Amino acid sequence: MNQVYSILRVVGLVALAIVLAQITLENTDKSAFEVYPFLWLILGVIFLVALAIEISAGALHSVLYKSLTPEARAQFDHTENSKKEAKLELWRKAYKNLLDKKPVENEGEIILDHDYDGIRELDNNLPPWWLYGFYATIIFAFVYMINYHVYGGTTQKEEYLIEVAEAEIEIAEYKKNAKGLLTTNTVELLTEEADLTAGKSVFLANCIACHKADGGGGIGPNLTDAYWILGGGIKNVFNTVTEGGRPGKGMVAWKTNLKPDEIAQVASYVLSLHGTTPAEPKEPEGELYEVESGETAETQGK
Ligand code: HEC
Repeated sequence: MNQVYSILRVVGLVALAIVLAQITLENTDKSAFEVYPFLWLILGVIFLVALAIEISAGALHSVLYKSLTPEARAQFDHTENSKKEAKLELWRKAYKNLLDKKPVENEGEIILDHDYDGIRELDNNLPPWWLYGFYATIIFAFVYMINYHVYGGTTQKEEYLIEVAEAEIEIAEYKKNAKGLLTTNTVELLTEEADLTAGKSVFLANCIACHKADGGGGIGPNLTDAYWILGGGIKNVFNTVTEGGRPGKGMVAWKTNLKPDEIAQVASYVLSLHGTTPAEPKEPEGELYEVESGETAETQGK
């Protein structure tokens, strides 16, 4: 029996350590042991130390026991047993109290009058374990109602909306750091100085031969006016630079040379040129590009 307790104590301690590690590190989607592999080492040390303590305590116990005289041993056994007995008695009593059952010999006191073809009914008290559980649910209902319907605690719907909002922030954060994922559908106008500067250097390195350094146009069209052959706005410009212009016009598909995030930067830079006055602007080509619904003046580069 003592060995069973020892094993339970060791296992319990290790389990407690695991739970504590998990709670304190608050890592929701990964286990703490995946993030910090050295925790395995600490866990191992805890296990070995607990094992060592249990073994030496057990050994000490049996040595002391053997060193007793036979009378002292009998005395010791007796007190141990009566302690155990008292503990068991306590549990038995608690169990009986929770059931509150009439002993079979006194059932006559609670039998009801009616008699259905010889079948009769006992009027037992409600078992206290059940009754207290019932009271607890009533109290809980009040606490719940006051908390959620009077003081306006977050309801399930609100919790859901909060989680969705948090997830959206996380997605936006993820997209910011994973620009390689950009496609025509997901690209958005970049307005940060660093992105526009990067876009400018891509432009100066690749595009000025045909579009001029100020975007005024040469072989390629003027990029500073409101007229676009292939459509304005970040999505169209991103697409044009990625896939190239109409065949045979000279605007190649830049996706083989530029990464999607570089294309987004240079496209945003091109749109930031809108409204500037180049030295020798080319005549407008294409159509006046209207802001589409869903696009703001922002995404048009104004
Ligand atoms: C070899 C010359 C050449 C180079 C280099 C070049 N382009 Fe072009 N670009 C053109 C031509 C020609 C067109 C017109 C395409 C058509 O009419 O289909 C064009 C069209 C465009 C358009 C669409 C304009 C509109 O009115 O719809 C954009 C945007 C553009 N280029 C951006 C760039 C960017 C950014 C670079 C550098 C990464 C670049 N181009 C490099 C020749 C060039």
